[in-house]
Amino acid sequence: MMIWRCKDNLLVPALLHFSMAKTIFFFLMMMMIPCITGAGASSNNNDNRVGEELLSYDFYNKSCPNVERIIHNVVSQKLLESPTTAAGALRLFFHDCFVEGCDASVLIASSETNKAERDAEINESLPGDGFDVFFRSKRALELQCPGAVSCADVITIATRDLVNLVGGPRWEVQKGRRDGLVSKASRVSGNLPQVNHTISQLISLFNSKGLTVLDMVALSGAHTIGFSHCKEFMPRIYAYNQTFDIDPTMDQGYARTLRSPCPKKDLDPLVVAFNDVSSPTTFDNAYFRNLQKGLGLLATDQKLFSDPMTHGYVSSMAKDQQIFFNYFAAAMIKLGNVGVKMGTDGEVRQDCGFFNP
Ligand code: HEM
Ligand SMILES: *[C@@H]1O[C@H](CO)[C@@H](O)[C@H](O)[C@H]1NC(C)=O
Ligand SMILES: *[C@@H]1O[C@H](CO)[C@@H](O)[C@H](O)[C@H]1NC(C)=O
Ligand SMILES: *[C@@H]1O[C@H](CO)[C@@H](O)[C@H](O)[C@H]1NC(C)=O
Ligand SMILES: *[C@@H]1O[C@H](CO)[C@@H](O)[C@H](O)[C@H]1NC(C)=O
Repeated sequence: MMIWRCKDNLLVPALLHFSMAKTIFFFLMMMMIPCITGAGASSNNNDNRVGEELLSYDFYNKSCPNVERIIHNVVSQKLLESPTTAAGALRLFFHDCFVEGCDASVLIASSETNKAERDAEINESLPGDGFDVFFRSKRALELQCPGAVSCADVITIATRDLVNLVGGPRWEVQKGRRDGLVSKASRVSGNLPQVNHTISQLISLFNSKGLTVLDMVALSGAHTIGFSHCKEFMPRIYAYNQTFDIDPTMDQGYARTLRSPCPKKDLDPLVVAFNDVSSPTTFDNAYFRNLQKGLGLLATDQKLFSDPMTHGYVSSMAKDQQIFFNYFAAAMIKLGNVGVKMGTDGEVRQDCGFFNP
């Protein structure tokens, strides 16, 4: 079942606006994505090995010297066709690394005997364009250097390029990751953050992957692009708690604006809202400035600002985009080292969607 192929992203933009006390307008585009797949989370992992010492910048110098250029060409073409690709790929990279380590386990298709990672219960949200850009990159590589480049490295390099192409920082990628031999939906739950987690829960989860509080805040800046489905933020905008109808930490006008595309009754489960309401498709630090104004979309986004453990980092990244970029790049390199397999572990997959026969 090819639920992850997102061939014709249907864009249904509805321009809404609301004026706040200061007569500022915000534009919120709602978008419908007709083909979707899922994500997941899971528990207990001993996959926190940091592979920095063994990964290397010139790993493919002999076996595939043009690896970076080949991937870059595919990725830029794909981004022109589907601007949503960058966010989709970035989210997949994150999920891949948090579940079984960065080993492309998220790309494996389910079989009759194995329900794979990407078909975990929380799976209505893994974006088809993200899968597609990785599969296309790998197919291009196979024409020039068959069997050389792992899917895990493809994900890492392609994601780096996409972030940079939509305005974000660029960093050098160390290579030599091997593809995993395990992809199980049951390993997802518990390894991924959820919108109802507390900051303490998020910190422990990130720590368990070798990432600091600072890494976590910087990486959350990924929400400067991409979308969330209504159900992820609806508890904030309807019957929040016994005292407040709308989450009081949320800009009230913003919350009301979100109600029309996300009605309580007859909700269309495919409707999504931009994660970054002020510059949704550009990788910048507006996400952090939004948090200072109560314009965070997810409860966990907004809590990064309100919680004293993370507040200071939010402020410094809101103030200076270069600081955000530096921390983000450093944290992405660390994220790309989580649980990597090297040497003779795992394999180099021929087709990223399937274990080698
Ligand atoms: C800190 C805890 C985090 C939580 C609770 C969280 C939660 C979510 C949720 C609920 C969505 C919406 C999914 C949907 O409805 O389709 C989302 C989207 C996204 N997340 Fe996160 N996330 C977190 C951290 C991260 C990190 C660390 C990254 C990457 C480094 C990331 C990258 C993204 C991207 C790019 C999207 C947009 C995907 C798209 O438009 O297709 N998130 N996140
Ligand atoms: C690998 O290739 C890069 C780029 O061409 C070059 O800068 C580097 O020196 C090479 N490394 C080795 C060990 O040949
Ligand atoms: C997850 O994907 C499977 C197919 O792989 C599908 O049957 C199921 O309905 C999906 N679940 C959700 C919540 O979308
Ligand atoms: C968070 O939500 C999930 C379902 O989305 C639920 O299973 C879980 O119990 C909730 N966790 C907390 C801490 O409320
Ligand atoms: C409702 O939420 C607010 C803000 O999170 C909190 O201060 C308040 O105590 C909550 N009220 C109830 C009755 O739970």
